[in-house]
Amino acid sequence: MCGIVGFVGRGPAAAPILDGLKRLEYRGYDSAGIATLERGLLTRRRAVGKLKNLESMLACEPLVGRIGIGHTRWATHGRPNETNAHPHAVDGVAVVHNGIIENHRELREELNRSGARFATETDTEVIAHLVSQQLKKGREPVAAVRAALPRLEGAFALAFLFEGYGDLIIGARKGSPLAVGYGEGEMYLGSDAIALAPLTDTINYLEDGDVTVITRQGIAFFNAKGEQLRRLPAKIAGSTVLVHKGEHRHFMIKEIHEQPRVVGLTLAQYVDAATGTIKMPKDVELEFRDINRVSITACGTAFYAGLIARYWFERYAGLPVEIDVASEFRYRSVPFDPGNLAIFVSQSGETADTLASLEFAKAHGQRALAVVNVASSTMARASQIVLPTLAGPEVGVASTKAFTSQLATLACLAVAAGRARGVLSADDEVALVRALADVPSYMMRALELEPKIRQLARKMARSRDVLFIGRGTNYPLALEGALKLKEITYIHAEGYAAGELKHGPIALIDKDVPVVVIAPGDMMFEKTMSNMHEVIAREGRTILLTDRKGAALASPGAWMTLVLPDMPPLVAPLAFAVPLQLLAYHTALVLGTDVDQPRNLAKSVTVE
Ligand code: G6P
Repeated sequence: MCGIVGFVGRGPAAAPILDGLKRLEYRGYDSAGIATLERGLLTRRRAVGKLKNLESMLACEPLVGRIGIGHTRWATHGRPNETNAHPHAVDGVAVVHNGIIENHRELREELNRSGARFATETDTEVIAHLVSQQLKKGREPVAAVRAALPRLEGAFALAFLFEGYGDLIIGARKGSPLAVGYGEGEMYLGSDAIALAPLTDTINYLEDGDVTVITRQGIAFFNAKGEQLRRLPAKIAGSTVLVHKGEHRHFMIKEIHEQPRVVGLTLAQYVDAATGTIKMPKDVELEFRDINRVSITACGTAFYAGLIARYWFERYAGLPVEIDVASEFRYRSVPFDPGNLAIFVSQSGETADTLASLEFAKAHGQRALAVVNVASSTMARASQIVLPTLAGPEVGVASTKAFTSQLATLACLAVAAGRARGVLSADDEVALVRALADVPSYMMRALELEPKIRQLARKMARSRDVLFIGRGTNYPLALEGALKLKEITYIHAEGYAAGELKHGPIALIDKDVPVVVIAPGDMMFEKTMSNMHEVIAREGRTILLTDRKGAALASPGAWMTLVLPDMPPLVAPLAFAVPLQLLAYHTALVLGTDVDQPRNLAKSVTVE
């Protein structure tokens, strides 16, 4: 995690760096800092907490240098205080870092033995010491960085600034993303293209192992051996404006309300409502004919989208699915059949574990298909097939519209797979496409539950623990409902397969533990009702989230019932996700937590 920005130009560097950092705040927000060179000397400003603290500091104590590097931090090693905030500076070398140096302890001991004195608890400071050591041996900055990099184990995106070198930023990448941008007489560096969007639309991405040398007049790329590489910049279509909340109080609620529109946009890309068919790139259809299983890998909310998709691939395409969280998958001894399809689901397209899993699967002969929201991301660039979700920029750390857009894309993919494999007939496809086309209106109806959910949230906010249960696709949805609640309200919440309740969690039930029961009137309804009544029999309070059919069938006893319209099972998870998101949001409002930037979290997780 963490965001990096670099600027070398004609005017003061601090303002564009700060603006770039604001665009990267989703990567971490526990402290931030900027270093510039003023009359050849390093000058730093660093502040704990959100970027606005650094901004206020800069207003009182401006930085005037025309070259600089900046950082917004998500702490890995060392508490989030001012001392540990980047940039770190040692003997005229300043560095900002995104990633983790895994051998930092050994390096620190070695450097200590040779007289280095450490000021911080971070892993990053060893990098500044290593480079400074090389400078002391008489090496020039580029050679010093090149000599230091092979000592580093782990993942990094780095930017360096050197005292006495007013026209030089050095960048390096291994594992963590880094991009450079081209201007007229000024050049830039950033963790992603969005950070640089107001400055330029001409971008180049560093590949793993690249070192980049940036001056006002140009940008050069070198490999580990120091050989110059030819890299052609590309034009990107980026949004140049910071996304705003509009009339909403938080990004999260804005993004929840955007869902009918962005899910509609995503679906329009993959369904042809006029002919009742799914539109997928040609190679996707061919792909499904010849495979005997798919794997799905992702993290967090994207993983839950994958778990729901597993039910769809099995049911609509008769396709076995291997699914795991990326942090496990990448280290397992998975017996792969060469030529199968590996699907990766990610909003950012930069999550370190998902990216490593993608490379792992490719190395074992799998074809990589990415369902990503950021079309220029590393994951999109590394995959053979890319299915973009059109959720637009998602700013709230708790994923909402990205999740339902992932579900929309995966549902279309499962139907395409079912057709290609002959499991679904043309009539089946027409019926499913019709259901998909209705999703935006089901979501609108789900949003109408907001006033009732606001009331429920007032009661929910008093709970210490909450359980969510469901069967079939409602089981992963229960996991997602619990994740949403815990990440923004800090209330302990767990999702369970409804049938598992009796194997342990039921011991937790008493009158103070609300249980959210997700149960549309489908073929599993009666079974889930039995589980609900097991809770009620133990004085548990249940919130039944169902459809009209379910509401008519349900015997009384629920503490509260939230009713959605009846809808076909394929699309139910997309609409049922909405009340769960609203419940988490309104409970957080009652509790007064930081909805968009919850404690300890970051939106893009580029460390293991
Ligand atoms: C973080 C975010 C989650 C997200 C997960 C995976 O934990 O807070 O909202 O689901 O990363 O991120 P990705 O960008 O790969 O979807």
